[in-house]
Amino acid sequence: MKKSILITGGAGFIGSHVVRLFVNRYPDYRIINLDCLTYAGNLENLSDIEGKTNYVFSKVDINDSTQLEQVFNDFQVTDVIHLAAESHVDRSITDPLSFVKTNVVGTVNLLNAAKNYWKDLSQHLFYHVSTDEVYGSLDNGGFFTESTPYDPQSPYSASKAASDHFVRAYANTYGLRTVLSNCSNNYGPNQFPEKLIPLCIHNIKEEKPLPVYGKGENVRDWLYVEDHARAIDLLFHQGETGNTYNIGGFNEWKNIDIVRLVCEIMDQKLGRTAGESAKLITFVKDRAGHDLRYAIDAKKINEELGWKPLQTFETGIEKTIHWYLDNEAWLQRVTSGDYLKYYQEHYG
Ligand code: NAD
Ligand code: TYD
Repeated sequence: MKKSILITGGAGFIGSHVVRLFVNRYPDYRIINLDCLTYAGNLENLSDIEGKTNYVFSKVDINDSTQLEQVFNDFQVTDVIHLAAESHVDRSITDPLSFVKTNVVGTVNLLNAAKNYWKDLSQHLFYHVSTDEVYGSLDNGGFFTESTPYDPQSPYSASKAASDHFVRAYANTYGLRTVLSNCSNNYGPNQFPEKLIPLCIHNIKEEKPLPVYGKGENVRDWLYVEDHARAIDLLFHQGETGNTYNIGGFNEWKNIDIVRLVCEIMDQKLGRTAGESAKLITFVKDRAGHDLRYAIDAKKINEELGWKPLQTFETGIEKTIHWYLDNEAWLQRVTSGDYLKYYQEHYG
């Protein structure tokens, strides 16, 4: 094996796309998917690559330093791509501590495991996957660049910002080789239906209300998940040590416009009368501390490494809706049990 790469959070939404890309594209790398399978982790996301000889799954919590050490030893880990995290802003508002535990303490545990196991730190890479939310909230002008000062506003973004700082501190203090990326909102297959787009797809199917926070005027910059996975692949191989790269689609949408678009496509796909699904739109109480706008300037990764998204929003959203309609059983399974409890508590 040329490399033995530990990908954390590989059973989650973005992680599963990253794991699949690496397993299929690099048969001479061993890919270890390390995930403790929280509500957001689902091995079903990777059923197509389960039998591959260069793929192994390890059910471990990044907060368990003994087991982490064991995994580094057992699989002679050469590099890390770290995606495991608590990822949902609304959950961070009701339970900030679990975000501190996984996103901050868990990341430091992983950094320690890597630093202690690797003899020559210059020979290995710790790639940390983060979010544009660490930069705070924009008003209607400007973009986040790699030099925008950190100004996290939610418990989620505060915990991710802290984890980014720890990764940079390990590079500075111990000489760990790191690359970081901060990406905008992802959408696509396998996203847990607590996030806006899959939540709307699911609720339209079930003819349930589509909860739009506040007036729906908040803006997000959306990127198709496979384009994010391709960017991670590129940065893992060609990113400059110690550097940070912003990843985004130059694709800003107001929430209400996204919800209306999803309604329109769903009406066509489900053979409903035009305008039928939009009747489900329900304006609800705004999210506490709701960031107004995120927008990424992705010039650096484009100009230095030639990355750009392959999907337009039109093709990406079409593929996404198609996937959810084709994978009804997946959606059924993830929206039973604990999901119903969360939904009831959050939306009443
Ligand atoms: P997700 O919630 O879908 O998946 C997270 C995964 O991490 C799950 O498989 C879960 O089981 C695992 N996990 C959670 N806690 C763990 C722990 N203590 N130990 C081991 N595994 C654990 O998240 P996602 O949307 O796929 O996000 C992945 C990463 O990308 C996160 O670091 C997130 O901050 C970042 N990110 C997400 C977005 C987005 O739009 N979703 C955008 C930019 C960056
Ligand atoms: P989300 O998918 O939770 O991602 P993030 O908070 O990380 O950007 O939310 C995207 C946007 O949609 C955000 O502005 C909040 C809004 N939103 C709603 O209006 N209603 C909902 O039910 C959810 C989950 C989100």
